[in-house]
Amino acid sequence: MLILSIESSCDETSAAVTDGRRVLSNIVATQIEEHKLYGGVVPEIASRRHTEAITGVCREAIASAGISYADIGAVAVTFAPGLIGALLVGVNFAKGLSASLGVPLIPVHHLRSHIAANYINSDLKPPFLCLTVSGGNTIITEVKDYTSFSPLGGTTDDAAGECFDKVARALGLSYPGGVTLDKIAKAADEKRYPLPVPHTEGKYDFSFSGLKTAAVNLIHKCNQKNEDIDIPVLAGTLRHRVCKMLTDKFISAAEDYGYKTVALAGGVSANSELRSMLKSDCEKRGIRLYMPELKYCGDNAAMVGVQGYYEYLSGNISGMDLNASATMPINYR
Ligand code: KG4
Repeated sequence: MLILSIESSCDETSAAVTDGRRVLSNIVATQIEEHKLYGGVVPEIASRRHTEAITGVCREAIASAGISYADIGAVAVTFAPGLIGALLVGVNFAKGLSASLGVPLIPVHHLRSHIAANYINSDLKPPFLCLTVSGGNTIITEVKDYTSFSPLGGTTDDAAGECFDKVARALGLSYPGGVTLDKIAKAADEKRYPLPVPHTEGKYDFSFSGLKTAAVNLIHKCNQKNEDIDIPVLAGTLRHRVCKMLTDKFISAAEDYGYKTVALAGGVSANSELRSMLKSDCEKRGIRLYMPELKYCGDNAAMVGVQGYYEYLSGNISGMDLNASATMPINYR
C-alpha cells in the first residue's frame, strides 16, 4: 500500500511516498534561510511558510515517485508534538486529502517517526532501546514493538539540540547552531573551558540547561573582558560534554535492561562525535547499533510514512476529528 506522508511539526515542510519501509520519494522544503534572520524558529512564520509550501511539496512527492494521487492508499501525518500552528497546517491538509481521495488518515507521533527513520534501508526490528535527541526532545525509550513504547528517562529541562543551538547563538554561529557547531568543533579542552557536569536524580534522565547557561555565561564574561574565545575549542568542549553524557547514560540503560540492539534517532543523531562515540562504545560491548542515514536524521516525511505503515497495521486510524497537539507522550494511547 502506498502512503503519502506529511511532516510540518517545526521548520521543514515535507511530503513523501512510501511503501512499507521503502521510500519512493521524499521532498523536504526547509525554512532555515528565513529563520536564520532571527536566530531561531519563529512559530508564526513557520506556519505561514508551511501553508505556502504544502501543496507544491505534496505534488512534487507524487510526481517524483512516478505515481498519481489515485494510487495513494492512505495519508499519514505528524499530529504531535511540535509547534501547534505548524502541525495544524499538515493535519488539516492531510484531512482534506484523505477525505477527497477516500483513503484512511493515519496519525503519527513525531518521536515515533524519528525512531522509524532507522527502519529505512535496514533490517532493524523491535525490541530495541532508542536514544532520541532533537531540538525539542531528549529521551531514552524501550521500543517494545513498532507501536509500543516505554520511556526510561529523558531531559528534565532543555533538550540537547536546544543546548547546542543556544550556545552556538551566543558564539555568533549561524542557525541552526548545532549543525554549525559540529562542523567547526575541534578537540575538547576541559582545562581551558571548564564546564559543569550536570546532575540528575533519575539514572536515565538528562539536564542541559545548567550546562547551557554556564557556557553562555563564560562567553559573555570573555566578551565583557574583551578576551578572545577559541570558538572551535569551546564548541568542541561543549560537544564532547553533551555527547559523553548522552552516550554514558544510554549505554548504562542498555546494559541494565539487557538490550543487545540499540538505535539513535532525531536531528542531533547527525552529530559526528555522538555517532563515533556511540559506535565505539557499542562495539566494545558487543551491542549492535543502528543509526539513520544522515538524510533521514532531521525532520522529513519519509520517516512519517514508514511509522505510519506500522500504525496502520496496528489499527491506528483517525477520523476527521483528528486534532494537533503540541505535547503528547510517545507512549500515548
Ligand atoms: O529532529 P530535528 O530536525 O527537529 C526537531 O524535531 O527538533 O532536530 C533539530 C536539532 C537542532 O537543534 C539542530 O541544531 C540539531 O538538531 N542538529 C545537530 C546536528 N544536526 C542537527 N546538533 C548537533 N550536531 C549536528 N550535526
